[in-house]
Amino acid sequence: MIEKLNKIKEEALDEITKCMDEASINNARSKYLGKKSEFTQVMSEMGSLSNDEKKEVGKVSNEVREAINNALDNKLKEIKLEELNKRLEKDKIDITLPSNKRVPGTKHPLTIVREEIEDLFISMGYDVVDGPEIEEDKYNFELLNIPKGHPARDAQDTFYIEDENILLRSQTSPVQARTMLAAGGNKPIRMICPGKTYRRDADDATHSHQFMQIEGLLIDKNISLSDLKGTFDTIAKKLFGENCVTRFRPSYYQFTEPSVETDISCFVCKGKGCSLCKNTGWITVSGAGMVHPNVLRNCGYDPKEWSGFAFGFGAERLAMLKYGINDIRTFYNTDLRETSLFDRREAE
Ligand code: DAH
Repeated sequence: MIEKLNKIKEEALDEITKCMDEASINNARSKYLGKKSEFTQVMSEMGSLSNDEKKEVGKVSNEVREAINNALDNKLKEIKLEELNKRLEKDKIDITLPSNKRVPGTKHPLTIVREEIEDLFISMGYDVVDGPEIEEDKYNFELLNIPKGHPARDAQDTFYIEDENILLRSQTSPVQARTMLAAGGNKPIRMICPGKTYRRDADDATHSHQFMQIEGLLIDKNISLSDLKGTFDTIAKKLFGENCVTRFRPSYYQFTEPSVETDISCFVCKGKGCSLCKNTGWITVSGAGMVHPNVLRNCGYDPKEWSGFAFGFGAERLAMLKYGINDIRTFYNTDLRETSLFDRREAE
């Protein structure tokens, strides 16, 4: 019997070394130790042995079972390790390969400028308001003291939609009229309105059929041109530095009286004269003025009681000045290499 057991062990150990996968290990386990195995058969014959023989055969059978089990377990471990290594080898990642670059999104330069101006005006108590881009003639022109047929309309070559009364707003100034009408003629107003505007201009380095204006309106009692000057001076210094000097030049807009162009001292040559300021030492950044009495009246405010100022910045112009961009089309093409250059995070 002992001989038989040792033979089973030998055979089993030999077969186990040849096992190649988990299934063959399972087969070998049931073949050599399972219910129908020779080993179980031998064990069942032990009843016929004397006590001493039982002891001896029992000892050997335990050793044989343990040896076969150990061999099976070790071989299984070996097979699993080998499988794992094979898988790792197959799935190996070549970390030296250059990856596809993931470019994080950045803010558009116009958004940066708009947010900066919004923050400045919010800090001075202004509201940021919105208005429709598809506008009625009434708000875009008539309430602003530009009646039909008036030559001032020619300066704003307008996109009309369907008929002469519905248009793509050519300026953000209609939001002034809407805000005054909504306020009901008896409340002070401080608002800015950044937004898209449209004109039938041929696109070139300084013209774009779509552009962005930032409108401002302040209505209260006893407001004078010096309030406008103070406000503009504060904003210009925040945007272009404390050494920035400002000036007003007389101008003409239908909806303001008096009207001005607001200039800042050239931040490149500091007023000496250079190509940016065309040798004048000054750069124009917005149109502005005291709200015309007709506009106040048209929009429900009594000009004897109320007065106010308004202004309109061209956002692209501000961004071009701030970032040294010399073509307005830069803002409207989709070349991310250009627009992402203005992300402050990269500079900081
Ligand atoms: N709407 C004017 C334009 O598009 C800009 C402007 C000038 C706005 C003077 C104003 C202002 O509010 O007071 O040319």
